[in-house]
Amino acid sequence: MKIMLHKNKVKNITKNEKNLGFVPTMGAIHAGHISLIKKSNKECDKTIVSIFVNKPQFNKRSDFLKYPKKIKNDISVIKRENVDILFIPKTKEIYPDKKNKIIKISKFKNKLCGKFRPGHFNAVVDVVERFTNIINPHKIYLGNKDMQQLKLIESFFAKKYPKIKIIGCETIRDKKGLALSSRNFLLSKKQKLIGSKIYRILTNNKKKIMNKKIKILDVKKNILKMGATKIEYLECLNINKMTKPYLKKKIYKIFISYYLGKTRLIDNI
Ligand code: PAJ
Repeated sequence: MKIMLHKNKVKNITKNEKNLGFVPTMGAIHAGHISLIKKSNKECDKTIVSIFVNKPQFNKRSDFLKYPKKIKNDISVIKRENVDILFIPKTKEIYPDKKNKIIKISKFKNKLCGKFRPGHFNAVVDVVERFTNIINPHKIYLGNKDMQQLKLIESFFAKKYPKIKIIGCETIRDKKGLALSSRNFLLSKKQKLIGSKIYRILTNNKKKIMNKKIKILDVKKNILKMGATKIEYLECLNINKMTKPYLKKKIYKIFISYYLGKTRLIDNI
């Protein structure tokens, strides 16, 4: 595995690839990230992984500072996966002009997480585009866990880079159902248990929520009783109605964002 820090070197080495898979990450690597890497390895000739904690996508400075950073461990974990290139750029490599571009993305950016994190998705799509222009991948691997992010990137790329395939990958969970996330490094054992109970409540009640047999407000009350500090949103949406082109088949997902202590978690079921 080559570890690269400079975009020009990456550009040079990747420009002639024919089937290159790209896995963008912000590090603090866990089994969710690894599953994307394995899928890319399986489906592509070569795989490039990036680690870049993208400051502009954090709304609060404190959230950015708190975000788990484990670069030494990340490198050794990724090394085991047969990755061809690990790209770890400094901020000035990605933002030479120090500014975020304003880019046109689907209005869906204003729903769910977008309501609570203004500008977040613009910064996410911006950074993925910047990496794409350096790396020139044929496929980009993203997790269903961040479904809104996946849908927004998918619709942006379908318009602007239709040749690049966006591959959504299943959510990896711990044994008790809590979706893996870098932010889980910030949770206590007790908080993780609460997270897995919340997952269970949602899976057990998904049908009832979809059929309006139970009020979302009552589910929220239950989740707060279990120990969630705060719920930002709990909504049931048809994912095929979220971004254009709208698809006919209805697939409903329950979307949640909640806090355990000061840690914000998201999931969809
Ligand atoms: P990060 O949170 O590091 O996630 C990197 C990728 O891993 C994302 O596509 C995310 O959806 C996926 N992922 C996270 N948890 C997962 C899980 N439990 N199972 C499967 N996949 C999972 O998402 C970001 O970084 C950033 O916003 C990024 C796209 C890198 C742009 O900065």
